[in-house]
Amino acid sequence: MKALMITRDSQLHAEVAAQGAARLPALQLAASRDGLRDAVERLAPEAPQLVIVDASDVAPAEAELLERLARLYPGAAFMLLTGGQQHELLIRAMRAGMREVLPLPLQHKAFHEAMDRIDVQAGVTQLRDGKVLAFLSCKGGSGATFISTNFGYALATLAEKKVLLIDLHGQFGDAALYVSDLKPAMTLAHVCQQIGRVDGAFLASCLVHVSPGFGVLAAADDPVGGVDMTAEHMETILRVARQHYDYIVLDVGRQIDPMSLRALDGADAIYPVLQLALPDIRDGRRLLDIFRSLGYPNERVHLIVNRYEKGGKLRLSDLEQALGAEVVHAVPNDYIAATDSVNQGVPALQLSRTSAVARSLAELVERVTARRIAENKGLFGRLFGRADAEL
Ligand SMILES: Nc1ncnc2c1ncn2[C@@H]1O[C@H](COP(=O)(O)OP(=O)(O)O)[C@@H](O)[C@H]1O
Ligand SMILES: [Mg+2]
Repeated sequence: MKALMITRDSQLHAEVAAQGAARLPALQLAASRDGLRDAVERLAPEAPQLVIVDASDVAPAEAELLERLARLYPGAAFMLLTGGQQHELLIRAMRAGMREVLPLPLQHKAFHEAMDRIDVQAGVTQLRDGKVLAFLSCKGGSGATFISTNFGYALATLAEKKVLLIDLHGQFGDAALYVSDLKPAMTLAHVCQQIGRVDGAFLASCLVHVSPGFGVLAAADDPVGGVDMTAEHMETILRVARQHYDYIVLDVGRQIDPMSLRALDGADAIYPVLQLALPDIRDGRRLLDIFRSLGYPNERVHLIVNRYEKGGKLRLSDLEQALGAEVVHAVPNDYIAATDSVNQGVPALQLSRTSAVARSLAELVERVTARRIAENKGLFGRLFGRADAEL
C-alpha cells in the first residue's frame, strides 16, 4: 500500500516508515509533505491509498485544511496522529470521514491494528476466519508430527490455503525440521514473551517459511528459560492467527498442559493419530476418556490411523468399536517415502508426489476442505499431472 506522510517530525517519519516496511503487504511512504499547508498546496503525483497526518501541531484554525485534504484524496483512507487535547480538530476530522485516530507517541501495536483495518477496507488483505485443527499422538511415534507438518504443506500447496503450523511441544519440538532445513530464529516462547506485539505481521515474522502459503512457528526450545507461557497467551495467538490464516494446524504432541488444553478447547477439530496396535489403542482410549470428561463432543474428535496396512489382524472397525470414535482417515504405511522425507526435511508431497503417503495426504486435504473430487479434478490433476486420477 502506498501512503502520503504529512509531518514535520523526521523521527516520526522514520518510525512509521520502518513499521510500514515490516508489514505484509508492506506500507510504503511514497510521498512526504512538511505539514498540512504544504500537503494541500502540492498534490502528490500519484494518488495515495492512505494519508497519514501528524496533527500534533495543527492549530484549531487550520482544521479547515484537513477538510480540503480529504477532498483532494477522496479515494484514500486517513490516519490521524494526534498530540494532546485536540477535540475540536478530531470532530472536524471525523466529519471529513477520517476514521483512524491514534495518539502520539505512536504505539506500534495500535498502529498495526489500525493498518490491519485499513488494509482490509482497502481490499489489500482479507480478514480470514481460520479453522484450528489439532493433531495429537496417542503414543510417541504414532506419526502426529509427520502427518501434521506434511498435511499442513499439502493443504497450502494443493488447496492453495494460507496455513500456519504451531508446534506446541514444550520440549524437543521438531516440527519445523520435518519440512525445512532452516533453523528457526524465533519460537513460540518468543511470541509469548512479546505477546503485546502480536499481530499478523509480527506472527509472520516469527515463522519458518516452508513455502509461500505455509509457515511453521517452532516449539519453545527452552522450556525453563523463564518465559511465561500461559493459556491466555495461546488464546491471543490463536485469535490473531485465525484472522490471518485459513488453517492453523497444531502439533500438540502428547502432553496436555494449560497451554495445549486451551488450544484444544478452541480447536474446530481434534485428530488423535494412532497406529493399529494394542498399545496405541490403550493410550488412545485414555486420551478419548480425557476428552469426554472435558466435555468435547464426539463430532469434534476424528481418529487418524497411521501406518495402516490392509489385511492386518486388527481392522479399522475393531478400532472404532474399541474407542467409540470414528476413523476419519487412514494413512498407509510407506516407510521409504516417510523416512526419506523426515531425513531430508522435505515434505513428502514435494519429494515424491506419487508416493502412497502423498496421495493419502491429498485425500485428507480434500476431506478437510470438503472439496468434492468431481468438482475438483484440478486438485488431483495438479498433484499427478492428469485430470482423471482415481482415489
Ligand atoms: N505413514 C507412515 N509410514 C511410514 N513411516 C511413517 C509414517 N508416518 C510416520 N512415519 C515415521 O514414524 C516416525 C515417527 O513419526 P512422528 O511423526 O515423529 O511421531 P510422533 O510425532 O507422533 O511422535 C517418523 O520418523 C516417520 O519416519
Ligand atoms: Mg512428534
